[in-house]
Amino acid sequence: MADDTTDTKSSNQMWGGRFASGPDAIMEEINASIGFDKKLFAQDIRGSIAHATMLAHQGIISADDKDKIVHGLNTILSEIESGNFEFSRQLEDIHMNVEARLATLIGPAAGRLHTARSRNDQVALDFRLWVKEELEKTERMLTGLIAAFLDRAEEHAESVMPGFTHLQTAQPVTFGHHCMAYVEMFGRDRARARHAIEHLDESPIGAAALAGTGYPIDRHMTAKALGFREPTRNSIDTVSDRDFAIEFLSIAAIAGMHLSRLAEEIVIWSTPQFGFVRLSDAFSTGSSIMPQKKNPDAAELVRAKTGRINGSLVALLTIMKGLPLAYSKDMQEDKEQVFDAAESLELAIAAMTGMVRDMTVNTARMKAAAGSGYSTATDLADWLVREAGLPFRDAHHVTGRAVALAESKGCDLAELPLSDLQAIHADITDKVYDVLTVEASVASRKSFGGTAPSEVRRQIAFWRARN
Ligand code: ARG
Repeated sequence: MADDTTDTKSSNQMWGGRFASGPDAIMEEINASIGFDKKLFAQDIRGSIAHATMLAHQGIISADDKDKIVHGLNTILSEIESGNFEFSRQLEDIHMNVEARLATLIGPAAGRLHTARSRNDQVALDFRLWVKEELEKTERMLTGLIAAFLDRAEEHAESVMPGFTHLQTAQPVTFGHHCMAYVEMFGRDRARARHAIEHLDESPIGAAALAGTGYPIDRHMTAKALGFREPTRNSIDTVSDRDFAIEFLSIAAIAGMHLSRLAEEIVIWSTPQFGFVRLSDAFSTGSSIMPQKKNPDAAELVRAKTGRINGSLVALLTIMKGLPLAYSKDMQEDKEQVFDAAESLELAIAAMTGMVRDMTVNTARMKAAAGSGYSTATDLADWLVREAGLPFRDAHHVTGRAVALAESKGCDLAELPLSDLQAIHADITDKVYDVLTVEASVASRKSFGGTAPSEVRRQIAFWRARN
């Protein structure tokens, strides 16, 4: 007979041996991770198959039980993939959902799968495998973005545009050179992803709860089967750390920061006031009230996704900060941050790749803007150093006076008559006009990494060979 001390809820079928009753509804809600960690189903099943195969190889379970387990796990994999799997919150997480289903499918042999392992090394394994795949995907996607930039850079190796500092016209550059700046940034992001894969390429399975296990397992065998370079070396560290996830988030945050700068430039360039680029219809939206508008929403959203990714990085750093070794349940909160950031990063890279490929570059507008704002003032100063032997500081001063005069006359430097220039410095000759055009300015900047078309082509060739 039920009395008021009897809880009608049953205790957990996986670990409930010492529990008289099941969890409170709130306990179940705060504890369950199945709502998000079901994303790890493929990794969980792969890990279990490798583990069971190793257990049988080592004589820890029978070959017959291993066959049943592997067959059952493959059945579960296709059930989940085809949407025919019922996830249960009472079973907390992906690990116990899979194991409970295995028991229904194959009976008592299922109970042998969890020999010589714990959910602590299991979750560390599943999550590492997931993050590793995501880093590989990030690398591939960045390669696509770099390829888009290389094509645009090649097309515009000679197209002149204003280069900016403080968003004020500084010196003329080529659009190809500007594109190649992003290639460098995304190239470093991709290298960071590659490094992170090297750092995490160690198999956690077999660390068990935290201390390792007394069963004669072979961790090198499971590491190899799961595509890891080697097993992790310290079982306590293995189940404690999430630095591989934090490293992914840091890389995502840095790449996101780069993407947001590109996004901001596209927003600025596509305004009618700049008019440097026109976004394709595929990557812009209209206004419901102002018929003339074409808005760069995709670029704005990329800019905003960066904020989300930064939030995830700070969240996980804060979750992990101050946790004693080894596993604590706090660490369950790692996954949503990483999943959300990964989704944001993928979307942002994909949208940017599309925008860069599709946008129309208005070279005439860029060229006109490149010539305004006294962008060749440095070239005049350099000419004075080279041809008239002035110290650079004096040349700078003379040029400043020429700019002030042009400004007061409302004309460009190249439009000042020679007599005006000679009134400022007697050694100026009409040869100076050769360096005052934007084309001459960019062509002269042949220093390694500079904006001269020949240098830009060298940079493109370097990256083509590496992409
Ligand atoms: N769902 C848990 C997580 O994501 C799995 C590990 C649980 N381990 C434990 N000792 N309760 O972290």
